[in-house]
Amino acid sequence: MNKIYSIYKSIFILALLVTSCNPDRVSQDVKRKQLFTGNWDFQLSDPVEKDTLVNNWRSLDLPHDWSIEGDFDEKHPATFGGGALPGGIGYYKKTFGIPSEYTGKQVYIQFDGVYMNSEVYLNGKLLGKRPNGYISFEYDLTPYLNWGSENTLMVKVDNSRQPNSRWYSGSGIYRNVWLIITDKIHVKNHGTYVTTPSVDKTRSDVHVEVEVVNNHPGDRKGVIKTSVLFRGRKMSEKEQTVTLKTRETKLIIDDHHIKNPELWSVEIPNIYTLKTDIYISGKLADSHETPFGIRSFTFDPDKGFILNGKQVKIKGVCNHHDLGALGAAINTRALERQLEILKGMGVNGIRTSHNPPAPELLELCDKMGFIVMDEIFDMWEKSKSEYDYSLYWEEWHERDLKDFIKRDRNHPSVFMWSIGNEIPEQWGQRGAEIGRKLSKIVKSLDSTRPVTAGMNPPIHTNKDNVTLQFAGPAKPNALAGSGALDLIGYNYAHQTYTQHQVNFPDIPFIATETTSALATRGYYDQRSDSVKRWPYRWDQLFLEGNPDNTVSAYDQVSAPWGSTHEETWKVIKKHDFMSGMFIWTGFDYLGEPTPYVWPSRSSYFGVIDLAGFPKDAYYMYKSEWTDETILHVFPHWNWEPGREVDIWAYYSKADEVELYLNGESLGKRSKKDDDLHVMWRVPFAPGTLKAVSRKDGREVAVREIKTAGEPARIELEADRNSILADGRDLSFITVSVVDKDGNLVPTATNRIGFEISGPGKIIGVDNGDPTSHESFKSINRKAFYGKCLVIVQSSGTEGEIQITAQSNNLRPGTLRVRSGSLSESPEQAKTQTSLNH
Ligand code: GAL
Repeated sequence: MNKIYSIYKSIFILALLVTSCNPDRVSQDVKRKQLFTGNWDFQLSDPVEKDTLVNNWRSLDLPHDWSIEGDFDEKHPATFGGGALPGGIGYYKKTFGIPSEYTGKQVYIQFDGVYMNSEVYLNGKLLGKRPNGYISFEYDLTPYLNWGSENTLMVKVDNSRQPNSRWYSGSGIYRNVWLIITDKIHVKNHGTYVTTPSVDKTRSDVHVEVEVVNNHPGDRKGVIKTSVLFRGRKMSEKEQTVTLKTRETKLIIDDHHIKNPELWSVEIPNIYTLKTDIYISGKLADSHETPFGIRSFTFDPDKGFILNGKQVKIKGVCNHHDLGALGAAINTRALERQLEILKGMGVNGIRTSHNPPAPELLELCDKMGFIVMDEIFDMWEKSKSEYDYSLYWEEWHERDLKDFIKRDRNHPSVFMWSIGNEIPEQWGQRGAEIGRKLSKIVKSLDSTRPVTAGMNPPIHTNKDNVTLQFAGPAKPNALAGSGALDLIGYNYAHQTYTQHQVNFPDIPFIATETTSALATRGYYDQRSDSVKRWPYRWDQLFLEGNPDNTVSAYDQVSAPWGSTHEETWKVIKKHDFMSGMFIWTGFDYLGEPTPYVWPSRSSYFGVIDLAGFPKDAYYMYKSEWTDETILHVFPHWNWEPGREVDIWAYYSKADEVELYLNGESLGKRSKKDDDLHVMWRVPFAPGTLKAVSRKDGREVAVREIKTAGEPARIELEADRNSILADGRDLSFITVSVVDKDGNLVPTATNRIGFEISGPGKIIGVDNGDPTSHESFKSINRKAFYGKCLVIVQSSGTEGEIQITAQSNNLRPGTLRVRSGSLSESPEQAKTQTSLNH
């Protein structure tokens, strides 16, 4: 097998070398930035002799996360807090030829993220090491390339010493890798900086700074043109002639004026492009594009966040970087789907907790209109876990911070820099010192956005003298008072937020992390009208809870440092000075299964579960945060006869809701004061629950929930029935177990097996169960509260993909997904019907 593979590989390299000799291709045909993710080889090191290669390479395409392929085990050093999946040491290798048109050019390799401790070698020469697994970095390959023959790139990745991250990190080259091919005179990578010093509806100023480097052996005189484009049309152009000495980097500065600019906003995220062209002797040597946006904003101590002159409440979520069943391996469609589901809930903000995100996330936020709090560190000098970044802090933090700001500072979606989350040093002078130093570094590279941090508020007890915080003593927060921060960011303790204006009347405020409510999708404890804080204390083992590690999905359980969803939102919505909030978390993530420990291995905090299915609280936010007409009634209607069950309804655009059981009214309810839901307590009797919302007596919305019978068949519903045949695009298929009449069976746990034919493959399965130890890479999955998910990826050719789902005694379900070319205009994400109520 290996032999055949290496013969194929030699043919491939030969083909590359032959095409590279094609005289028809001129240098300007070379694409400046190319994905370099195909045809890599991978192997894990010997588990005993850790640094040993045993020559069992397998070929794969990047991005790749080897942890997500492994089995759950509480003995893995990541522990259940890190997702209980394996780490280890892995090696990646890629052999490639260099086309002749690259001759005389500069070739860089750019890694968007490698977890962690990467070492990159080209043809045996070490190019560099990078401990931080979340940071993007690049190397210049030019001096070490074999021009005209084979090159071997080798990347060693060491994620063997754990725990080292909160929470699941993934392992490997889990983000994209790019080759950047330029003339020797070129715009530096991340060397542009676009700002909009004055923004007005009739005219805006665009200030551009571009770093140009000349690596030619002699001086080069060139014309450098910067143009501002909007939807392909040139809105302004400037040019200057400069001479660069060999190895010199020059900063080119231009000021553009744009008439009647189309502003970037959350509703209409208009994107402009700065194009930089370098001409030498009249010939185009380099052309580089930087997307940016024109918008004005400020954080005001009294009025909160103002965007383009309008007050906007930031309704945000914190998200950890993993993509559920896909692990950390980045996939643009998977990210886009997450953002679409969040948009559907009314979310307009994302906090990249607690690390630099994939560049694709920011690109999507630019295009889809999200306000991003871009965060870099979860710890500084003092560690939070044994092998974390604190080990590398001294040597690397300045470099990592600078690279991070330069990479992300042109994104219109980025509105604040967070230099840390709940940093242990926050309570003392060292925290103040480091905070000031980091803030200074940020400002030297970008002075247009405020610097903040997710801190713990200084007041630590509530009116009943109950400790609200789990970290730090009850004294002023030194980092908050250090002068380092332009925006005070507090995590949790929403009861203390009104104190902020007393402590810091001149500094604006944001709730950087809130809530930490807990829920298992589909599971409900009776009764629902008491609030539980689970665990009781952050520092004590929690031995109570439910024996099957479930948590009630009525919004009635939270961590003791947090609140229910309703408790925090009620405070934030009331006060203008509170710029907004970031809920912990939008999606469940791998690791941190608070309040439980093993066998749980993923979180309960998400408003949306790990598979992407909304929990009920999603609709509370939707009723508050969108303009849609909402009537969401829960729980299901399958209980033991006579059992008293609480029925909740979230609704909007109506004055009241009336509930009926089998045609008989159970009464009308309306929200009073600051209520966010209504409730009935009803003895269960099988049949139909019907809720009707009304405005001025007129019916607005109707929902029915029926007692489901035995599982009878499987239904499949794709988020998109048509995807791109590009080898990357995905269709997320929701699998529901229904009774003979099509009602979801809310207790169904049937194991469903999948078969696929046509140009697609199954790359992940999930059901959102935080306790499941089934593999995400399997081709079968148990339903969890009636549902599971299968993720299908195009294999790169056009055609029809057919997915069949089967289970004992159930009628199978079948679905077809078209894998086509761009010109067939794939159906744009059709939001699942289930999200609309
Ligand atoms: C916060 C912390 C997060 C997460 C969360 C869980 O204090 O910043 O990383 O652990 O608690 O509630």
